[in-house]
Amino acid sequence: MVLVTGGAGYIGSHTCIALDEAGFDFVVFDNLCNSSQESLKRVEKIINKKIKFIEGDIRSKEDMQKVFTTYKIDSVIHFAGLKAVGESVELPLKYYDNNINGTLVLLDVMKEYKCKKIVFSSSATVYGDPHTTPIKEDFPLSCTNPYGRTKLFIEEILRDVYRADNDFKIVLLRYFNPVGAHESGTIGEDPNGKPNNLMPFIAQTAVGKREFLSVFGDDYDTVDGTGVRDYIHVVDLAQGHVNSLQKIAALDSVLTVNLGTGNGYSVLEMVSAFEKASGKKVAYKIAPRREGDIAACFADPSYAKEVLQWQATKELNEMCEDSWRWQSNNPNGYSS
Ligand code: NAD
Ligand code: UFG
Repeated sequence: MVLVTGGAGYIGSHTCIALDEAGFDFVVFDNLCNSSQESLKRVEKIINKKIKFIEGDIRSKEDMQKVFTTYKIDSVIHFAGLKAVGESVELPLKYYDNNINGTLVLLDVMKEYKCKKIVFSSSATVYGDPHTTPIKEDFPLSCTNPYGRTKLFIEEILRDVYRADNDFKIVLLRYFNPVGAHESGTIGEDPNGKPNNLMPFIAQTAVGKREFLSVFGDDYDTVDGTGVRDYIHVVDLAQGHVNSLQKIAALDSVLTVNLGTGNGYSVLEMVSAFEKASGKKVAYKIAPRREGDIAACFADPSYAKEVLQWQATKELNEMCEDSWRWQSNNPNGYSS
């Protein structure tokens, strides 16, 4: 049985579908602090199966023990965490407590129940401002905000766990920029309040919920001066977790892998691709740079292909079409 912490969230809910398709049995554990059970109800419709769900907090040893006594957990996909960069700057202790303390409790209970396989949601943010692109896994690591530091610290903690006990099988997946939604248009990203990320902001502007997109800077050294990122379809990303689980038992060291497409698109390229996919105008205004942003960030995805036999399959137009289907069918997300 696979334990999916944070499985009611954006990437977790899509991964539940991929796990089911690949024949894995799983249980979702989530405290619903940034999601609702509605996402899982919709996943149940897609996979035509009931999902095992336990509501609880990864920081609670009791909650975690309940999961491990109720089910025989063989491996964990660990999505649960807070992810808003801006909020992490305002409330660093909240992020260190939730993400790091939560992971420590999870690892402690895993050890107690002799479960030693974990796939962790890391982020390209651990590369800081890369000296060059595309980014390879062995690039130097650094972070510019508390959220990013929680990812980097957890990576270090997991590497230490492996050093202390080589029976642990650990995969660190460094996601680039997840976007898109399941093709059904019934599940997708449902940010609380004003979105921080580009794709949901564009989608909400196209659907008329936001007046215009602020483009954060047009004077970067990039194709058109706006920031360049590696957007990856969430369904491709979900599949990366399945491939990781299929390989994890054979690992003899901590596996660290970029999950990206290798293609970089600028903010203005994203706006125009979304307009094309949705048939809607996306009004925008050039605004000052956002603090902490970098010019360009995109992956060298070749290691993922080599070790996980995984590569992204979905192009930008599909990412935009699927985001639009989700946004237009559910203008207010899961509360629509
Ligand atoms: P999300 O917020 O949609 O999902 C995270 C889930 O974890 C939510 O359902 C939330 O309720 C749950 N959760 C948070 N704290 C918890 C706790 N203490 N106990 C139990 N459940 C808890 O986010 P997502 O976009 O699906 O991201 C999943 C993971 O991937 C996160 O760890 C995130 O940091 C990481 N990641 C996301 C991105 C991105 O841009 N979306 C990029 C890189 C890495
Ligand atoms: N952008 C805008 N306007 C907006 C939002 C974003 O112009 O309203 C621009 C940004 O300046 C950047 C690009 O769009 O150039 C992408 O921004 P996102 O906020 O969508 O993504 P980031 O690459 O800044 O950050 C994301 C996640 C972080 C994660 C990081 C690296 O939000 O959590 O990728 O993985 F750490």
